[in-house]
Amino acid sequence: MRHGAVEGMQDMSEVVERWGSRRAFIIAVTGAAVGLGNIWRFPWMTGENGGAAFLMLYVVFLVLLGLPVMIAEIMIGRAGRRTPIQALTHLARDAGKSRHWGWLGLFCGVTLFFILSFYSVVSGWSIEYLVDALSGHFASQSPQEIGSAFDAFLASPGRVLFNHTLFLFLTMSVVALGVGGGLERLNNLLMPLLYLLLVLLVGYAFTTSGFTAALAWLFMPDLSALTPMAIFNAMGHAFFTLAVGAGALMTYGAYMPDDQSLPRAVVTVAILDVAVALMAGIAIFSIVFSQNMAPDSGPGLMFVTLPIAFADLPGGALWLGAFFVLLLLATWTSSINLAEPMVAMLGSLGMARWLAAVLIGVGVWLMGLPSALSFSIWSDVRPFGDMTLFDLATTLPIDIMLPIGGLLIAFFAAWVMEGTRASMAIGAGERFYRHWRAVVRWVSIPLLVVVLVGFFLS
Ligand code: PHE
Repeated sequence: MRHGAVEGMQDMSEVVERWGSRRAFIIAVTGAAVGLGNIWRFPWMTGENGGAAFLMLYVVFLVLLGLPVMIAEIMIGRAGRRTPIQALTHLARDAGKSRHWGWLGLFCGVTLFFILSFYSVVSGWSIEYLVDALSGHFASQSPQEIGSAFDAFLASPGRVLFNHTLFLFLTMSVVALGVGGGLERLNNLLMPLLYLLLVLLVGYAFTTSGFTAALAWLFMPDLSALTPMAIFNAMGHAFFTLAVGAGALMTYGAYMPDDQSLPRAVVTVAILDVAVALMAGIAIFSIVFSQNMAPDSGPGLMFVTLPIAFADLPGGALWLGAFFVLLLLATWTSSINLAEPMVAMLGSLGMARWLAAVLIGVGVWLMGLPSALSFSIWSDVRPFGDMTLFDLATTLPIDIMLPIGGLLIAFFAAWVMEGTRASMAIGAGERFYRHWRAVVRWVSIPLLVVVLVGFFLS
């Protein structure tokens, strides 16, 4: 369905295709939202920023920024029914405002480009772990050995690059062929299994000695951990995990059925998304505390803890393999959502879909090199203070570009667009619209400005 829709956009006319049902829309957006953000980055960030204090902030940002801006972003796509650049240009023109708002679509495209570049590298790590898991590699290893095997893997540029290439190839092939719909159906079928496996992991976590410590770490805030960095990370993560702030969901909104209430869909997705993060967090931190590991072990946290947990369970190799299959599927649907708007934007300039996919693929591959090599030959390259290339490659798009994109999207939706049009595209009645607009105007936008300015000054 989506392929045809994108072709239809080349003449700047509205897309006429719609998701087959309300449920299909929710499933597609959940597919974009649930990914590495929940299972890999959430525990990493929580571990690095003091645990419960971070979780608390993240939930506050999710409610005050993530959800209102998510509504704004999907609403713009639904009202414009075009690719981000065209939707923004049209809506601005119809409201008698500057056509230059189209540039925001381009900014979004650049953000997606940066995100996909490290996303593909880290998804590649999961491919390596899938193969290792199925070959029974971890079964005979001690927790220490599992930990050093991860470092050894990252230190090997060839293996990291091979997996990055493979994952990106898989993503761009699906986008080039326009068969994202098929993958989504598979995802739809298998995602409940990911939830089931996470429930199993939480059940296992319950039996470990670190379970209560993990709960305390996650749910009893130590307010002294609220550093400027924690605030900043929590804000970026709220956008990243919901897939908001880079126009990716605008593209999905363009196909939203006419009779669906947007707020209800968005809240459903957010609950499904947070549930995954919380379960992953409980499982991972239980292992951290029962093994006396440090919660702030960085981006390797998930990759080191889960093999330890599964090695402990009967049939562990298979379970671990299944986990990485499901994780890869979840990251695959997210990465397709990252790539699709970029390819659609080039397509709307008249470029053939396959060529757009190849160009973006090559560009993203090159852009992924700093992340991929940050742990080996370029580990000493630190252009800003202590930050590695990997830190930069994740911080810049997630913590800086997504919030800036989110701010502009929110501003466009609440101050620039015609009110009646926006209200209709949200589809939840005039009263809801006015409340939502008040929250965006007087809470979300000021909060975003304060945190962003605060960070740049600190
Ligand atoms: N939400 C995805 C995740 O948590 C990442 C993503 C961000 C996808 C932005 C699309 C757009 O893994």
